[in-house]
Amino acid sequence: MKKRLIFLITVLLSLFVAGCKYDFILPVPEVPVTGDVSFATQVAPIFSTGGKCTSCHKPGGQSPDFTAGAAYTSIVPALVNTGTPAQSMIYTFPGPTTATHTWKKLSAGEAAIILQWITQGAKNN
Ligand code: HEC
Repeated sequence: MKKRLIFLITVLLSLFVAGCKYDFILPVPEVPVTGDVSFATQVAPIFSTGGKCTSCHKPGGQSPDFTAGAAYTSIVPALVNTGTPAQSMIYTFPGPTTATHTWKKLSAGEAAIILQWITQGAKNN
């Protein structure tokens, strides 16, 4: 009986400690992505704002071309997987936690917008 109580207290204590630690290491909260995502006003600017991606991914530069006008046809269908959105190359390759694309990564918030857009069918909207 006593052992079970000690066990319970240990579990509760470790949950408590783990809870504090988790709060402490939580990254900057993501902007929750709700409602319809627009490719033109929300997704495309991720690539072009400040030349984040288009400094390399532009005509005459590194393919694919992510500049406005070309971005949609560069991404759909080649880099999206609407069946399993989280496996889309545009989401995984430059993803915040993937090591493949070390030049520049998407922030967690940007990745969330892109994932939501693919989940909604990767429309040219
Ligand atoms: C400093 C230059 C540079 C920047 C900035 C850059 N990339 Fe890249 N990107 C590359 C290079 C080089 C490759 C080719 C890598 C390879 O094939 O292994 C590549 C490949 C890719 C690919 C794979 C394309 C394919 O079909 O194989 C994707 C997707 C991609 N980049 C997305 C992005 C996104 C999104 C951004 C902005 C967050 C970005 N890149 C910013 C240099 C860059």
